[in-house]
Amino acid sequence: MNGLPPLSSRTMGRISAARLASTLGQWHVGGPRGGGHALADALAGRIRDGRLPPGTRLPSERELAAALGVSRTMIGAALGRLRDAGLVASRQGSGSWTAVPPGGRPPDAGLPDGGEPINLTRASPGAADGLLPAFEAARRALREALRDETYDDLGIAPLRERIAARYTVRGVPTAPSQIMITNGAHHGFALALRLLAGPGDRVLVEEPGYPHAFDAVTAARGHLVPVPVDPFAASGWDIDGIAATLRQTSPRLAYLMVDFHNPTGRRMGAGDRERLGAVLAATRTHAVVDESAVDLSLGGGDPGGDGDGPGSAPPPLAAFAPRWTITVGSPAKTHWGGLRIGWVRASEELIGRLGEIRASLDLGSPLFEQLWLSGLLGDPGPALEPRRRELRARRDALVAAVRAECPDWSFRTPDGGVNLWCRLPEPIGPRLAAAARQYGVLLTPGDRFGVRDGLERWLRLPFTQPPDRLREAVRRIAAARAGLATR
Ligand SMILES: Cc1ncc(COP(=O)(O)O)c(C=O)c1O
Repeated sequence: MNGLPPLSSRTMGRISAARLASTLGQWHVGGPRGGGHALADALAGRIRDGRLPPGTRLPSERELAAALGVSRTMIGAALGRLRDAGLVASRQGSGSWTAVPPGGRPPDAGLPDGGEPINLTRASPGAADGLLPAFEAARRALREALRDETYDDLGIAPLRERIAARYTVRGVPTAPSQIMITNGAHHGFALALRLLAGPGDRVLVEEPGYPHAFDAVTAARGHLVPVPVDPFAASGWDIDGIAATLRQTSPRLAYLMVDFHNPTGRRMGAGDRERLGAVLAATRTHAVVDESAVDLSLGGGDPGGDGDGPGSAPPPLAAFAPRWTITVGSPAKTHWGGLRIGWVRASEELIGRLGEIRASLDLGSPLFEQLWLSGLLGDPGPALEPRRRELRARRDALVAAVRAECPDWSFRTPDGGVNLWCRLPEPIGPRLAAAARQYGVLLTPGDRFGVRDGLERWLRLPFTQPPDRLREAVRRIAAARAGLATR
């Protein structure tokens, strides 16, 4: 009974067929032939790296077949392979569940000393200075706002004006009517996706890229079309390659992070933006430009950066393709993710259409958080400079720790953002992430940032925690890795 969890439906976590399908992403990219193997491999990777923890009850074969759009025979074959590998257990009448990977203890979410694990799966810094004074100011402003009889579903006017003015200063003249307040940058992308891409449509994404954006496309039954972002090349983006992809695959939408790409930390230079803007216009492709890290310019990255330092920021991509870009922004990384608020900037016409489609989901963002953000953006100085200083110190501490503890890893020190994207000498990312759990460090392995398997040599390390904690995390990761080498 190797690693079987207790067979009580009360103690076993479940995963729905829809979530499992979204976690698997595009496992079947190679085509339906040999699908049992491909599906088993994809499931095995997710069990080994802890995304499907041991003791998770799997949906029935019938539900899985429906969610993945394949036959029950293929599901049965894949589960059979996983049973043979000791990664899944089944019992007649009780279904199937994930088992402990052979040779590994169950993932242990605590530190060996019983403390809290160091969680590097989230790239979200804690609340910035200035958040509480702005909260008090918002409380006072609320008195006035309570007199209004209704609410504005696109967002309150003062906040939209402030956000519009920031774009105008950055080189894209923007009217408040071109701004819609959302519940975060990701919400903005989800709305654009709903408006512009339907089931079966292609969506161009960067690879590596933002996993939740991949999930959103997959959940909408879209097809991801990846284009590479190179962490080491002189320019991160291959604009000719993107142009050819747009022409040949005609995606309905592109999703791009040109200002401190997640996870590589690259920033696209002005020349590439101009060429990319022209290509978007020529191919009539809408692009969601995720600027959630745009204000996190840290400077001091490795040479070859394409837009280093707060003073030399290139114009927004929207300046080069105003009609085709939908920019999403957020205070989650500059101020605090807990605000759960963000915005979309687009043409007035698109904002109107986004507003209409939003009405089927919700009718606007909470007023108090809008007042709060409005205060924060009214005088961003007090939060932004300390935030950049803090992240610069954390990045430098992480870089020094990785150089000292893992000298055979390679990376490019990023000029901004919150992540260090590390290349390992062997494809052990998922195994290392699973092993690191036992040392009290939670990691997201690099393959989670890929559309298909293939990024197993990579690891994303966010530098959003204090330097001491980052140093301790790297020490533990190095110990976990040494443990892998001796297995
Ligand atoms: C690239 C990117 N976009 C969007 C988000 C989420 O933004 P929000 O919290 O505003 O929805 C994140 C958060 O980590 C992110 O890294």
